[in-house]
Amino acid sequence: ERIQFLKQYEDWFTIEAPALRKITDHFEQELGKGLTEEGGNIPMNVTWITDFPTGCEQARVLTMDMGGTNLRVCHVKLEPNRRDFEHTQRKFKLPGEVKTGTGEQLWEFVADRLKSFIDDHQIQNSISEKVPVAFTFSFPVHQTGIKSGVLQRWTKDFNVAGVEGHDVVPQLTAAFERKQVPARIEALINDTTGTLLASRYFDPHIQVGSIFSTGCNAAYMEKCSNIPKMRDEGFAENAKVIINTEYGAFDNDRKVLPLTSFDRDIDRKSARPGTQIYEKMVAGLYIGEMLRLVLLALHEEGRLFCDQDISPLKREHCIEAAFLSAAETDTSEDLKGLRKEFEDYFALSPTLDDLKICRYLIGLIGIRAARLYACGIAAVCKKTDSFRCHVGVDGAVFKKYCGFKARASQALREIFDWPEDEFDLICLNPSESGSAVGAALAAAMSMGCEAGKR
Ligand code: BG6
Ligand code: GLC
Repeated sequence: ERIQFLKQYEDWFTIEAPALRKITDHFEQELGKGLTEEGGNIPMNVTWITDFPTGCEQARVLTMDMGGTNLRVCHVKLEPNRRDFEHTQRKFKLPGEVKTGTGEQLWEFVADRLKSFIDDHQIQNSISEKVPVAFTFSFPVHQTGIKSGVLQRWTKDFNVAGVEGHDVVPQLTAAFERKQVPARIEALINDTTGTLLASRYFDPHIQVGSIFSTGCNAAYMEKCSNIPKMRDEGFAENAKVIINTEYGAFDNDRKVLPLTSFDRDIDRKSARPGTQIYEKMVAGLYIGEMLRLVLLALHEEGRLFCDQDISPLKREHCIEAAFLSAAETDTSEDLKGLRKEFEDYFALSPTLDDLKICRYLIGLIGIRAARLYACGIAAVCKKTDSFRCHVGVDGAVFKKYCGFKARASQALREIFDWPEDEFDLICLNPSESGSAVGAALAAAMSMGCEAGKR
């Protein structure tokens, strides 16, 4: 009987190669649709960055990176022809109330952190100087140039009032003024764009930049001639531009993704139901919640943690992606690592059978996330005919989730049907530089700061 009920979960969460290919094909079409005037589910946002870095960039830039969990402030010094950089970084966790308060509160929080960084590191050279800042804002924005961007919608369960539909640059600039922060925004970019630029700076085989962390997304360089919605922009025939796909929104109209009742539940309870359907099936913010819902369902059916007080598990989002990763690294026969996690975080005393079931379910959820993640990457590679390339990936969950990269690579192998003895033709390479370097490169390129240019 036990095998039978686990089999049910296996059916729900397993995605075999033919389904991966079907999802990838539809994904590729949807990427194309997002480039048209009518648009589709995937925003395919034009970033106005039309070149990759040359290596000649020379600049000192402050960067601010607002991901899903942290705000990182960094001082980056780019040296020409060395493909090298120096940086000093400080990381601040974004408090829950800042993610769900008002625009003023959010921007003043950011401005305060930037001000203390500028003061502590004595970055301002003269009292009249405004320090150039490159802002990595990891949310979907519509841009008409590199220094502005209207927030289309909050993602990753942010819900800050008064920002959607507005340009974030004047809002942040106003907070700089209120807080007397001597800074001006020189570039507004997405974290995937930053990852693409930073990875490409070091590796000419990079074609895609991607984040797998709280959220999931990718950016790539597209030919302007393939972008009908840019037809009137007067770009040269062979011009290219980086597209921030915002592909977490893939399949919002639910045509191909094999949603389970748990996925629907996560969506229903999220800050923006009906949006980011793909992201909600794969990204770090949601996989812990997925496990929690599955564990609660099994407890209710009397199959798990019988006679235990599971109330600590009832708090939404109490399981983080790191819990799953730690569980997967526990290879001991008695699963003592996983037992300790349940004891420490949730005051539970699971039986060995409970632990084995949990471990198995965690594997199913982790494998599904990695395999679906591979579909987005495969779709971008197919769309650009990049069948041999490197993909720069950043994000704590990608880097720390044990086995994630191997699973995603295996899925790519199945999607493209590479011969068994072939190495990975599309390599997922961890981006080591962090998007601060990408943001600094974007600002340097936008300000024309290349050695020999001025
Ligand atoms: C970091 C990248 O590693 O991950 C950032 O350098 C990115 O650019 C961040 O925004 C995303 O992480 P999180 O967990 O804050 O969403
Ligand atoms: C979400 C955001 C996107 C970002 C990604 C990773 O999908 O909408 O802008 O790139 O998370 O942080």
